Amino acid sequence: MPLAGPSHLFAPLSLTDRQRVFVLTGAGISAESGIRTFRDAGGLWEKYRFEEVASPEGWAAHPEVVWRFYGQRRLQAAACLPNAAHQALGALERSLGERLFLCTQNVDDLHEKGGSVRVCHMHGELFRSRCEVCARPPFEDRAAHASLPRCECGARVRPHIVWFGEVPFGMDVIARALEACDVFVTIGSSGAVYPAAGFVAAVRGHARTVYVGPEAPDNASAFDECRLGRASEVVPGLFAA
Ligand code: APR
Repeated sequence: MPLAGPSHLFAPLSLTDRQRVFVLTGAGISAESGIRTFRDAGGLWEKYRFEEVASPEGWAAHPEVVWRFYGQRRLQAAACLPNAAHQALGALERSLGERLFLCTQNVDDLHEKGGSVRVCHMHGELFRSRCEVCARPPFEDRAAHASLPRCECGARVRPHIVWFGEVPFGMDVIARALEACDVFVTIGSSGAVYPAAGFVAAVRGHARTVYVGPEAPDNASAFDECRLGRASEVVPGLFAA
C-alpha cells in the first residue's frame, strides 16, 4: 500500500457521472476544529475512564457522571466551527447529491455546520437525547444537564450515543451503501474500532480505497492508497471539480 505526501501533490480523484462515493470520517476530521481525538493526550477522555462514561454498565452505575461528561462535551463542541474538510464534504454533497454517502463515527455536528445535510451518525449524536423506556423518538437536546433529566413518562433520559458494547446505528443502510460504492474514502480514523474499521475490507474488489490523515491507520494495509496530510489540506482537493 503506497504512502504518499505532501498533500498538494495528490492527483484529484475523478468520477464518472454515475459513480458513487462512500466517505467515512473519524475524530481526525474534527481535530483541527478543536475537538480532541480519543487517543489525544489532554482530550476529555483522559479525565474519565471510558467504561465509566461510555458503556451501559457505567450508565447503570453512575448516570450523573455520564451526564457530566456529555454536558462538558456539548459545551466544548457547541463552540467549535467546521474546518475546510467539513466544508469540502458539504460542497461534495451539493455536487453529487445522493451519489455521496457520508458516514461519520463522530457525534459532533460539524458536518452539518459545514453544509452536509444527509449524514449517517453511526455512533449517535451529541446534541440528541432519548428516553430509555418509552417510544418517544430521539429529540434535539443541547443542554449541559447538571442533574439527571427525566422524560415526561418518568423514565431517565440518556444521551443518544452508541456506547461500547452497543450496536451502531444504520448498519443496514451502511451495508447497502458499501456494496454500491465505487470510491471509498476514510478521513481521520485510527482504524482500531470496529465495525467501521472493517468497512474498507468490505469494499475491496469493487471500490478504489483511499485513506486521508497525518499518519497511517492500523488498517492501512487494506487501503489502495494512504494520502498522508491533515484533513483540511487534503480533503478540499480530493475530488476533481
Ligand atoms: N486530519 C486528519 N486526521 C487526523 C488529524 C487531522 N488534522 N489529526 C489526527 N488525525 C487522525 C489520527 O492520526 C488518528 O488516526 O485521526 C485519527 C483519530 O483516531 P481516534 O482518536 O482513534 O478516532 P476514531 O478512529 O474516530 O475513533 C473511533 O472510537 O472511541 C471510539 O466511538 C469512538 O467514534 C470513536 C471511535
